Amino acid sequence: MENLRSFLMEDWLENNRFSAKFNLGESGARARKVEEILNGSDVLSSQVLGKFLNIKLNDSPNWGRLDLREKVAQLHPNATANNVLITTGTSEALFLLFHALKPKKVALALPGFQLLYEVPESFGAQIIPLPIYWDTNGKPFINEDLWLDVLKQNKPDCILINNPHNPSGLIFSAQFIIEIKKLSRNLNATLIGDEHYRFLASTEKTMGETLYDGDKNIFITGSFIKCIGTPGLRIGWCVGNEKVLSQMQNEKNYTTHTVSPIIEWIAYEVIKNISSPLFHEVRNEWKQNKKLLQSFLTETKSIYGTPPEGGLVTSLGFRFARDLDHSESLIQELFKLGVFVLPLNTMEFGNFEFQKKVFCNARVYSKINQGFGFRLGLGIESGKFFEALGIISEVLEAGVRI
Ligand SMILES: Cc1ncc(COP(=O)(O)O)c(C=O)c1O
Repeated sequence: MENLRSFLMEDWLENNRFSAKFNLGESGARARKVEEILNGSDVLSSQVLGKFLNIKLNDSPNWGRLDLREKVAQLHPNATANNVLITTGTSEALFLLFHALKPKKVALALPGFQLLYEVPESFGAQIIPLPIYWDTNGKPFINEDLWLDVLKQNKPDCILINNPHNPSGLIFSAQFIIEIKKLSRNLNATLIGDEHYRFLASTEKTMGETLYDGDKNIFITGSFIKCIGTPGLRIGWCVGNEKVLSQMQNEKNYTTHTVSPIIEWIAYEVIKNISSPLFHEVRNEWKQNKKLLQSFLTETKSIYGTPPEGGLVTSLGFRFARDLDHSESLIQELFKLGVFVLPLNTMEFGNFEFQKKVFCNARVYSKINQGFGFRLGLGIESGKFFEALGIISEVLEAGVRI
């Protein structure tokens, strides 16, 4: 394995997470306290302390608590607890999965969450980009036929679909997912669904569709921690065939081994009922912030883009940025007023070959593709979100003249 390059967004997040008045750089819901999480999951405050103090700090079972694995299995058709490995966040699930599968060619949507291409690349895999573009209204889109052609031509042995997608907020259509599944079966490729944002994928339903159907070549990585605002509760899972999961579990024995029983307890209480008041609250806040963002985008002249269809992030463009230096200076102006957003170059916008050629194609593309803008997180209390959007508007209208 090669050394991993630096994780480009992490310094920005770390340097602003604890100080920014308005943290719109994150990809998760507003962070919640243990008490809020448990109360929202119908665990009474009066019971919390007693339950907590009674947790024995032995090693958890190597694959994770059985009742927790059963609950995760229920979210995936045709899965049983034997198809579920509990991990330290989605990141660990992905890392172990890539290591176990050792794919030679991985096709995935780009730009994307860096781990998704960095880790397989460090294991020697070739990365095949499946392009995501932004049009002149800042609306992200894909060319489905192009993706299918790229897959047919390159014949990857692994296809990764992050759905809903970070940082575009796209949800891929059910029909297209069927096409991808068919093709991946024809290519005898492994299909990985990174479903990290599945609990914020529908305004009506408690969760979005999963790729999983019990096929031995399909794996899902996921968690609820970003969706409900508990990124510090390091828990996630991999769902898939037992043989591969068993290999992953063996590798876990050398590092994190098991997830703490304290974390597994909280995770079980959360996931035991995904129709709990907690999940309702999270979805209501998400819907509210999507609405606020939509009306902001309708009115503002200086920013363009769309609210995410799924998940908690979208990528927006500066309408009047002259060049990348100007774009950077506008972001710095926002920081000065306490508004932290993530510059698009931390997600390598503009670095991929297909983004350099975007003007050759029939559809008109925007400069978001080259990084003239920022990733905006919706995971903040609605009142503060409204305030922050007001500041963005003011700074940028003035910034046209900077
Ligand atoms: C698409 C995607 N996958 C995986 C992860 C990693 O998640 P975790 O914090 O559970 O390790 C993230 C984190 O933002 C993500 O956006």
